[in-house]
Amino acid sequence: MSAPVRVGVVGLGTVGSGVVRLLVESADHITRHAGRPIVVERAVVKDVAKERSVPVPGGKISSDIRDISQDPAISVAVLLVGGLEPARSMMIELLEHGKDVVTANKALLAEHGPELFELARKLGRSIAFEAAVAGGIPIVAAIGECLAANRIESIRGILNGTSNFILTRMEEDGADYADVLKLAQAKGFAEADPSMDVDGTDATQKLAILAHLAFGVWVPWAEISRTGIDGLDLDLLKYAGELGYRIRLVAVASRSDGRLAMRVAPALVRIGTPLAETRGAYNAVSIVGDAVGRMFFHGLGAGQMPTASAVVADIIDTVVGRAAITFRTTGVLESDTPAAKISDTAVLERHFLRIRVKDQLGVLSKITGTLGEHGISIASVIQHDVSGSSDAGVPLVIMTHACDSSAVQKAVAAIDTSDVVRGKSVCLSVLEE
Ligand code: NDP
Ligand code: HSE
Repeated sequence: MSAPVRVGVVGLGTVGSGVVRLLVESADHITRHAGRPIVVERAVVKDVAKERSVPVPGGKISSDIRDISQDPAISVAVLLVGGLEPARSMMIELLEHGKDVVTANKALLAEHGPELFELARKLGRSIAFEAAVAGGIPIVAAIGECLAANRIESIRGILNGTSNFILTRMEEDGADYADVLKLAQAKGFAEADPSMDVDGTDATQKLAILAHLAFGVWVPWAEISRTGIDGLDLDLLKYAGELGYRIRLVAVASRSDGRLAMRVAPALVRIGTPLAETRGAYNAVSIVGDAVGRMFFHGLGAGQMPTASAVVADIIDTVVGRAAITFRTTGVLESDTPAAKISDTAVLERHFLRIRVKDQLGVLSKITGTLGEHGISIASVIQHDVSGSSDAGVPLVIMTHACDSSAVQKAVAAIDTSDVVRGKSVCLSVLEE
């Protein structure tokens, strides 16, 4: 048996604690896959006084990154601190001191990936990041390696566990949005700043990484059109259900005329389809490749042990040398990667509208008239008899036939200026299949 490989873990929060637990509790099994034992040599955290759910073997825990970067016994560093700083400086410190790095920090990669990967290449080191996208689902390896023979046509997925957890608790139990968000935080699904989850930022950063792997282009994540779940309410989920749909935060990237159409937004997905049946903190990714056809991946996208599963797989890959080969040879996040050309072509799809209107004669014809003027044809309308309507108006729910997404946006903007409309209307795409 070869000598043990010594690992330094930076960050012992939700994911870091899971990684230490897995390395300790599954040591035999992991040794068999790595060909040698993998030992946690030390951990670095922010607050050394905090009580930990896992003991660091040997009790070597401190708050100085140099205790890992400058320890010659440690060859692999696992960076499990979220956000941009000090995570970026820590990654640089670790690479410059000869450590191969494993991370789950997608914000860091989406923002500074090319710079960090160039540094790692220059220094002959590797960065592995399977856990950065879709938690326990091995989607980075699937796209980057297993589907490498394919020209990828499209990616569609649920990439944020917190948002999906919130939406399913609301639709299944009628739970309150704010209460479920707190629960998602308590379960360790949410980012340190949970607005990144619910405003769509986290899913958009993950989509940018997947699009890079799939399409070989660099996509500045902030250029991707993004809407989160923070504008949704229970009524919208109920109306969608009445029409045979669920609402999911869906990330989409697809080729069209040499460009990429990309967006992250809540959308209606038909009950019974795989995305609609993706519940709780589960993620799902549907990929179409020209050779393989459509593939569907489903698994826990957030949480301690599913994420630790992906991190530890990366540690093993790094130890056996697979990560270095992949990193050196596949051109992932190279600094001369071409920038994506984002498509601004409108998409033809059905739309779901919720418009709050004054409960008075002639309102329906006014709204349908405006839709008609914009070339939008209506498939169905729901207006329940709401007695004692308030200033907030009564909800009018409209499902359109397939129509140009930019035309529907313009129509809704016009509708919202009408004196019979109360508040801002909601317009969601409907993803059939
Ligand atoms: P946590 O907030 O639970 O843990 C963060 C850890 O980083 C803590 O141990 C904290 O120390 C440590 N830390 C923060 N600042 C410093 C610092 N300046 N110096 C040293 N240590 C520091 O985060 P998670 O474990 O949830 O997430 C870690 C990363 O993994 C993030 O990038 C996240 O996006 C990603 N991720 C998370 C998933 C999840 O389900 N939670 C899933 C997939 C990816 P202390 O404990 O002392 O405060
Ligand atoms: N906050 C993220 C989520 C963690 O909820 O999906 C996993 O990346």
